Amino acid sequence: MSEAISEALVELAKRRGFFFQSSGAYGGVSGFYTYGPQGASLKENVEDAWRDRFAVKEGHMEIDAPTVMPEPVFEASGHLDGFDDMLVECPECAESHRADHLIEDNTDIEEAESIPLSEVEDLIAEHDLVCPDCGTELAGEPVEDFNLMFETNIGPGTSQPGYLRPETAQGIFVEFPRLKEYARNQLPFGVTQVGRAYRNEISPRNSIIRVREFTQAELEHFIDPEEDEPPLSRVEDVEVRLYPAAEQEADDGDYVETTVGEAVAEGIVTSDWVAYYLGVGQRWYDRIGVDMDRFRFRQHLSGERAHYAADCWDAEAEIDGDWFELTGFAYRSDYDLSKHGEHSDESFTLFKQYDEPKTVERATVDPDMSYLGPEFGGAAGDVADALERKAERDRSAFDGDEVTVEVDGDEHAVPVEQTGFAVEEVTEAGEHITPHVVEPSFGVDRVVYTVIAHAYREDEVDGEARSYLELDPEVAPTVVGVFPLMDKDGMDDRARELAAELREAGLEVTYDDSGAIGRRYRRQDEVGTPFCVTVDYETVEDGDGAETVTVRERDSTAQVRVPTDDLAETLTALRDGDRTFDELTAAADAD
Ligand code: GAP
Repeated sequence: MSEAISEALVELAKRRGFFFQSSGAYGGVSGFYTYGPQGASLKENVEDAWRDRFAVKEGHMEIDAPTVMPEPVFEASGHLDGFDDMLVECPECAESHRADHLIEDNTDIEEAESIPLSEVEDLIAEHDLVCPDCGTELAGEPVEDFNLMFETNIGPGTSQPGYLRPETAQGIFVEFPRLKEYARNQLPFGVTQVGRAYRNEISPRNSIIRVREFTQAELEHFIDPEEDEPPLSRVEDVEVRLYPAAEQEADDGDYVETTVGEAVAEGIVTSDWVAYYLGVGQRWYDRIGVDMDRFRFRQHLSGERAHYAADCWDAEAEIDGDWFELTGFAYRSDYDLSKHGEHSDESFTLFKQYDEPKTVERATVDPDMSYLGPEFGGAAGDVADALERKAERDRSAFDGDEVTVEVDGDEHAVPVEQTGFAVEEVTEAGEHITPHVVEPSFGVDRVVYTVIAHAYREDEVDGEARSYLELDPEVAPTVVGVFPLMDKDGMDDRARELAAELREAGLEVTYDDSGAIGRRYRRQDEVGTPFCVTVDYETVEDGDGAETVTVRERDSTAQVRVPTDDLAETLTALRDGDRTFDELTAAADAD
């Protein structure tokens, strides 16, 4: 990030109460941030806008699961084995660094995450990379996988290890057996969750962009891949800027500017479902004020994809020359539900009823246990189960005199005549299927940072430099600042009354009577308050029914007198975009 702007932004964020490093009284600790009053409100507004779009308007249900989950969940999900970043340690100062980030920061190589460990070691040597903290050469130092999960013990002792969830998604997947009941066992259905996730990042950086505790807003959409189709027509005209993997790998690769419909028709985005959510996501980002000229969808390179993802596109935003991932749109196939089905005692499938019952051939076994017992001892039961699975998957294996099955890595040959193998005709009403999952996964903190960064403006007002946030009223922490021109002559009492009335009408209001009026406007400009109301002498002198106040617009700093009778209604219409400030000014001029 360009240092000048990000410093200005981080300084503004701290000074005006958006966010700051936590536990400062004890020296602070990297990767943990507290949202102040403005930031907490902005973040909540972003989350509400997300819920409105991805839960309410898409017709999905929302859940709220615990952040600590037992170890078997992550054994099944693959996070215990495969959720690693590349760690290189400085031999001199013992500081840990993310090896792929060192490469990206010091060479022209992008997305170094997708490069195998041994090649990363070679690149460190080839480019003479040094420790950013003490300058010691890192060539020859081992690059190792570091698991990002925070481990804990559930209850006293160490008998039940647990982990802070590294993604909210697992809280949804493990509850699938119950959630499918709430969805009346019918696909497709979606489940959302907005909550904390934890990753023990090797080197947290860029303020709230890469932290160790953050908020995700995730949707897991469970679908039948054979039958369910997204309502693509709703978004087919949405214009998107795509950066496909092939373009990233080509020497003269470029963006593909197209529509969602075209991207599907031309096979650029192969999953209709992912394409649908790219369209919904593009519109949502535009709605909350992300600059569409600084926004793109980038496809993951094959080595970059998470262990569960069959395909993935990231929504990325440009901030001062660098691109940051805000959302992953992943096609997770049946990976998670299959894994939880294999590792637990619950069923992670769903019964799909056929339109008409079907008569099908079914291969079955009825092994002779009086043969398997003496022959295989303690493994006899597992051999019988393996025979059953083999019959379901590969009936030709029973064509000869013997069939071979594998149990715990050992092969066992069984005479076919002892297996009770038979092929029967059965009539089936349906089948058990494992749904596939499409997942838009948003990092709320990164969205908040981007919204602020893209709204940041500097200009001059009355010969004085001003910085302000051009925030959309939907996400602005405060919609209206109410001030008395002076803290006397009844103006303060009337301003307090008006502030209370506006709050009752559902508007977020700040009351401020400290310092010169110009300074109060600047304070509200800096936190992105779109409108300010000032009670002045004219207000208190106006007679009953004719009382007016000034309403000032943040971006233009233009002011207009508005009757207090209509004030709540007028400000609500301005907030909701049902009326523009220019229309309000024109109406006042016409009166
Ligand atoms: N369930 C899928 C998943 O977790 P991810 O790409 O690892 O996918 C999703 O994370 C989003 O979470 C990212 O696009 C990013 O916005 C956010 N995120 C991930 N790690 C983060 C971190 N250390 N700090 C802040 N946000 C993070």
